[in-house]
Amino acid sequence: MRKRIGLIILLSVVLALFIPVFVQAGEDENFEEEILHLDERGCTSCHKVVERDGKVFDYTLYAEVQRIEDHPAIKKEKVEEEGVLYCLVCHEDMGEKSFKKIIHPIHYFSEHFEGNCFSCHDISEKGEFVLFDEVQAGKE
Ligand code: HEC
Ligand code: HEC
Ligand code: HEC
Repeated sequence: MRKRIGLIILLSVVLALFIPVFVQAGEDENFEEEILHLDERGCTSCHKVVERDGKVFDYTLYAEVQRIEDHPAIKKEKVEEEGVLYCLVCHEDMGEKSFKKIIHPIHYFSEHFEGNCFSCHDISEKGEFVLFDEVQAGKE
């Protein structure tokens, strides 16, 4: 009997020591994800196909462009592969239609926009606003 109690105590001690180690390992893996909110950032975190009340809404960047009247034709695969980087091939330096001019008002004056600067941006090590998607693509 005493032996069994001893074993139980030993087991408890071992468990008490190791459980936090296992939990810690899981936390480390999620830590970056959580602190940087990786899954809530970048254009495609919002611009994707969404199902709401059994209805399907296509908010992909390609679909958004299809809804813009008189927009020049763009390649669907290119948008899927490169996202906003593809848009920027034209929109980086386009005068009044440059993204640095039009993207902010499109979002900040919409009642549907619930993001913030860091939904689209990251801050570079120099302290400058860069696009999150560019950082993810390794271009900043
Ligand atoms: C946090 C969510 C969110 C993120 C991130 C986001 N958008 Fe949007 N975007 C919206 C919403 C909401 C609208 C709808 C605005 C409206 O029509 O009221 C929108 C609309 C648009 C439109 C349509 C404008 C039009 O005239 O029809 C474009 C283009 C667009 N976004 C591009 C982008 C790009 C490029 C990025 C990344 C740099 C981005 N968005 C990131 C939520 C987001
Ligand atoms: C091949 C060049 C090109 C590419 C690539 C391109 N655009 Fe455009 N876009 C244009 C031109 C040209 C206009 C201006 C049309 C005009 O002045 O009426 C425009 C206009 C727009 C406008 C402004 C519409 C308005 O209110 O006048 C939005 C928003 C836009 N593009 C979003 C996008 C998004 C999002 C992408 C990427 C998925 C994209 N564009 C890719 C050429 C391009
Ligand atoms: C919906 C996406 C989105 C949101 C939200 C957003 N931005 Fe931007 N921002 C952009 C895009 C796209 C550009 C153009 C990038 C380019 O031309 O390379 C840009 C450009 C900029 C630039 C210019 C950087 C340069 O290249 O010179 C600054 C500064 C900036 N944003 C600040 C902000 C601040 C501050 C906020 C929050 C109040 C904010 N942005 C929110 C998408 C966004």
